[in-house]
Amino acid sequence: MDKTTFDTKPIINGRMHVSLKHDSAHKHVTGTAEYIDDIPEPAGTLHGGLGLADRAHAEIVSVDLSAVKTAPGVVWVITADDIPGFNDVASTGQHDEPLLATTNVQFHGQIIFAVIAETRDQARRAAKLAQIEYRDLPHWTDIDSARENDAPYVVEPMTLKRGEPETEIENAPLRVQNHMYIGGQEHFYLESHIALAVPGEDDEVIVWSSTQHPSEVQHMVAHVLGVANNAVTVQTRRMGGGFGGKETQGNQFAALAAIAAKKLKRAVKFRPDRDEDMSITGKRHDFRVDYDVAFDEEGRIHAVDAIYAARCGFSADLSGPVTDRALFHADSSYFYPHVRLTSQPLKTHTVSNTAFRGFGGPQGMLGGERIIEEIAYAVGKDPLEIRKLNFYGQRGSNRTMTPYHQDVEDNIIARVVDELETSSEYQARRQAILEFNSHSPVIRKGIALTPVKFGISFTMTAYNQAGALVHIYNDGSIHLNHGGTEMGQGLYTKVAQVVADTFQVDIDRVKITATTTAKVPNTSATAASSGTDLNGMAAYDAARQIKERLIDFAMRQWKVGRDKVEFLPNRLRIGGEIVPFDTFIRAAYYDRVQLSAAGFYKTPRIHWDRKAGRGRPFYYFAYGAAVSEVSIDTLTGEYMVERTDILHDVGKSLNPAIDIGQVEGAFVQGMGWLTTEELWWDDKGRLRTHAPSTYKIPLASDRPKIFNVQLAEWAENAEPTIGRSKAVGEPPFMLAISVLEALSMAVASVADYSVCPRLDAPATPERVLMAVERLKAM
Ligand code: MTE
Ligand code: MOS
Repeated sequence: MDKTTFDTKPIINGRMHVSLKHDSAHKHVTGTAEYIDDIPEPAGTLHGGLGLADRAHAEIVSVDLSAVKTAPGVVWVITADDIPGFNDVASTGQHDEPLLATTNVQFHGQIIFAVIAETRDQARRAAKLAQIEYRDLPHWTDIDSARENDAPYVVEPMTLKRGEPETEIENAPLRVQNHMYIGGQEHFYLESHIALAVPGEDDEVIVWSSTQHPSEVQHMVAHVLGVANNAVTVQTRRMGGGFGGKETQGNQFAALAAIAAKKLKRAVKFRPDRDEDMSITGKRHDFRVDYDVAFDEEGRIHAVDAIYAARCGFSADLSGPVTDRALFHADSSYFYPHVRLTSQPLKTHTVSNTAFRGFGGPQGMLGGERIIEEIAYAVGKDPLEIRKLNFYGQRGSNRTMTPYHQDVEDNIIARVVDELETSSEYQARRQAILEFNSHSPVIRKGIALTPVKFGISFTMTAYNQAGALVHIYNDGSIHLNHGGTEMGQGLYTKVAQVVADTFQVDIDRVKITATTTAKVPNTSATAASSGTDLNGMAAYDAARQIKERLIDFAMRQWKVGRDKVEFLPNRLRIGGEIVPFDTFIRAAYYDRVQLSAAGFYKTPRIHWDRKAGRGRPFYYFAYGAAVSEVSIDTLTGEYMVERTDILHDVGKSLNPAIDIGQVEGAFVQGMGWLTTEELWWDDKGRLRTHAPSTYKIPLASDRPKIFNVQLAEWAENAEPTIGRSKAVGEPPFMLAISVLEALSMAVASVADYSVCPRLDAPATPERVLMAVERLKAM
């Protein structure tokens, strides 16, 4: 029986800290939520098709597009020579990512040209008619072959160091050296990438883009067109999922649509199909972690030395910050007295990998949890005991410093883990499982409790800023706009709750409007889980300014003191008088009160020096823990997740229903990453898993049979965030590590738990079976 709990009281006045429904929930399920492909197309809209490289690494010898140009319906073919501005869509400013390939191609699926035709079908058919001659160059697609070929780094590696790891490792009583492979992941958002560009007069263009980062799309479109940013407007009402895959990857489609729209003076739409989207957009980075860990007989860590190598693809994209964040989470929830962590962002001839929920954090943390497993099997204890022994200490203890020299000040992991251990009856169930395994010949079970500690803030300090725009119209209705984007996570609802709360009005009085670069400039990507923290505060700042003016007006008009002006639900009490909100607003308008304000917020207290590997990159940490129980079939490798219990910290929740949805969704997505989702490139560098037929995301039937999800109701952010809430988008993704560790225990039972099973991710049934066979043979 599931006992997911949250406040289900009927909502009368939806404000902060209540389970209000997602503003678009009813539209999502009835098909009336408007996505870009649903927008009525302007008359004469043209459609784009893509000409893709079919080599992993090659010189382009010749390109013959004559058959493409004369194919039915074709209006124009865009090559690199047709780009009016810069042939560059690199989000980093490193100029290592051409919009269209020119002299060489660096991955299978790189875009060489685009076709514009009357219909999408015509454009796609025509794109296949190109005759391209290549001269093959040496290529490598994975981490090991990148190392063998002395591959360059796509960005400068980072090192985090504290203490004397080298000498401590030499001197420690016990030591394990090994490595682990961690797979990548396809985002598999339901709505694939899409952009619609409509040309305006002079240099102007409007682009509807399915992007987490409208400002970057705006700047990138301006860059390829060779115009100023102010000529380009980018709009995004919602995405059908982003998950990090739409942080930078939308640039290319928007840029191509805008180039064609300006040239042809007609609206142009690009919408790759699923196979193209999967082949030509970046994914989660796979990692290889080489670790060297020193510890004592009790299982206490003395020192850790680890190298995190990543498959970055052909260009930098976000590989720098992603591999950095992996290192920032290599400690998971544990204090490493002496530590050295190094990243190796390796260039490979594959699509350039990018952001994906957790942004390297999950890979970092998984390495840290593998280290715990190694120690547990080496000293013959329950991994949970080793975890508890190595947790960061409380504030004031000498066990709070991270490898990046930030102190963990808000540590609640011990409490979260203790409560979950009790509520899930971990100890009794573990005993029962050990007992079951001791006489079950084929089916074996495993259970694991794993913690999460995730740092909140963009590690690039400048990105931690946001703006908002609030208007109150003279009928008392409110218009809200901010720089954050909606991808299903409920950001729009939460920010609207903040504004409704400030004025004490019903949520339906607040119109949530599409994100547009014309209303709030220079925004950051909606990413790093910081959407609500940043935009909620910016919207609060705007609303607060208007509220201050309204209070001044009331004091003036009613001739009362400040303490006699009170905002009540949908009305005000001013002196002895009760005034409905809309009547009051109309009066303010006639008194010429400015009823519009721009708000701004920047996260305090954070700073980061990457070269020195020191600073305070994170404003605070979000915590959580999960216990998963699995059963495996030792003859086939098939498995099931029998039960998962989660206790997660979102501070003081702004909206428990939405937060629980985020926790559940993140956990299941994380489970997919660690179990069934496997990306596979062949020896020609072709991604062979580019559709649901070969790439298996979790089904409803894969979810834990019993799934108990709770928020830590006592939690409150120690920092003054909006409503003392915490970010929720990414942290619960890593709760899924409990599934991999539970599978590990089930596998280990085959050799009586004497050997660390070293299960790599994803632990597909095939890999589970191979691990079982390996242990049986020992
Ligand atoms: N939830 C849904 N439904 N769809 C998404 O695409 N993206 C995740 C997370 N939750 C995502 C989601 C990622 S990668 C991030 S960084 C955050 O939402 C971004 O939104 P937030 O900052 O508002 O939490
Ligand atoms: Mo999320 S990976 O930061 O978009």
